[in-house]
Amino acid sequence: MLSEKLVNAINDQIQFEYYSAFTYKAMQTYFEAEDLSGMANWMNIQFQEEMEHAEKMFHFVCETGGKVNLQAIEAPRNEYNSILEIFEVTLQHEQEVTARINKLMDLAQEEKNHVAQIFLQWFVTEQIEEEANVSQIIAKLKRIKDDGRGLMMIDQELEKRSIPAA
Ligand code: FEO
Repeated sequence: MLSEKLVNAINDQIQFEYYSAFTYKAMQTYFEAEDLSGMANWMNIQFQEEMEHAEKMFHFVCETGGKVNLQAIEAPRNEYNSILEIFEVTLQHEQEVTARINKLMDLAQEEKNHVAQIFLQWFVTEQIEEEANVSQIIAKLKRIKDDGRGLMMIDQELEKRSIPAA
């Protein structure tokens, strides 16, 4: 049901979703070390969501008769200089994911593969939320600048994030 080209492209994205998960898990370690448990929680949820994205793609390839080929995952960046930098890198990363998902959708459309287009639509919509969530956090961090109380309030807010019900 999927062309070899489409299977290969989704395989590449599965690898990138796992890399994204690793990237966010590495960011979590920064917040754990800084005792910012809310931000650490936010990154851990982000990690779990990326694993879920990879899992969705994995099952889609299998269910449509394709073969998943897992690829090497490079080490994520482990060192950051500030909280704001981490969230700015997160936004850049999500923008790259959006571009990749759009390319996958372009391919599915070129091939007139309706099943793949319906499947990928979920990811197109998901990326709107992914980018919006991070942009909001960046805006708040910029507003509070170095105010410790403001930072604690953001941290408490991010503590509430949980995995959305399926
Ligand atoms: Fe799997 Fe954050 O996109």
